Amino acid sequence: MHRLCPINAEKRLRIAIDGPAGAGKSTVAAEVARILNYTYLDTGAMYRAMAVLALDKEIPLDDFQALGKMASSVTIKAREDNGVFRVWIDGEEFTHRLRGPKADGAVKILAMAKPVREILVPIQRGLADCGGVVMEGRDITSVVIPHAEVKVFLTASLEERALRRWRELGNKGITAEFGEVLSEMEARDAKDLERDWGKLVKVDDAVLIDSTNMSVAQVCRSIIDLCEARHCCFTNSPDGFLA
Ligand code: DC
Repeated sequence: MHRLCPINAEKRLRIAIDGPAGAGKSTVAAEVARILNYTYLDTGAMYRAMAVLALDKEIPLDDFQALGKMASSVTIKAREDNGVFRVWIDGEEFTHRLRGPKADGAVKILAMAKPVREILVPIQRGLADCGGVVMEGRDITSVVIPHAEVKVFLTASLEERALRRWRELGNKGITAEFGEVLSEMEARDAKDLERDWGKLVKVDDAVLIDSTNMSVAQVCRSIIDLCEARHCCFTNSPDGFLA
């Protein structure tokens, strides 16, 4: 999936953000993209769409070859629209089906399937080709765009991440035991770390940002400072970038 690059594309950075669940990657990536007038790319949504499709097609989640065949036989389109990352498969929009316990449970397993990753990674690279993107996930700095100009490993303590998730559920009117949310978060961490391909790692040249005691605005500021340290200056005007 290749985009037509604007004329000044070579000046627009690729910002790659990895980190565990609940670290605030989506919120921060979308906000940094908004400030810089860049495109926000949520790679987790693409894995989620594949997981929902596998459930629809009743493909066993432990049959990695069948999952790979499924992924290679469909057309996946994805783009940001006003801060929302939207995904279509064979023309059908999946965006509104990507969250919730069923998708959460399925995607943890599907993300381990190397044949699926081999299909999604080149699509994700294509989306980042032109620059001017903030891409978040688990293997962005290590596998998808290891040559990104700005690389961040965004994390927070397990307790803080679980607390954020627990509050998020509360805001949606879902009552949950904090202990259960914490165990679920721990299990998600284990799955992200134990994958053979595309596992979550902090690459040497990624800057570690621990957001445990930081606001969203502070994290965004740190990332924009990193961009500015690349000897660039930015504007959030529609032109996007001033060299
Ligand atoms: O960030 P998220 O919770 O929406 O991610 C959904 C799942 O996809 C999660 O199990 C981690 C996995 N994932 C991945 O393996 N590689 C990525 N680049 C992004 C997400």
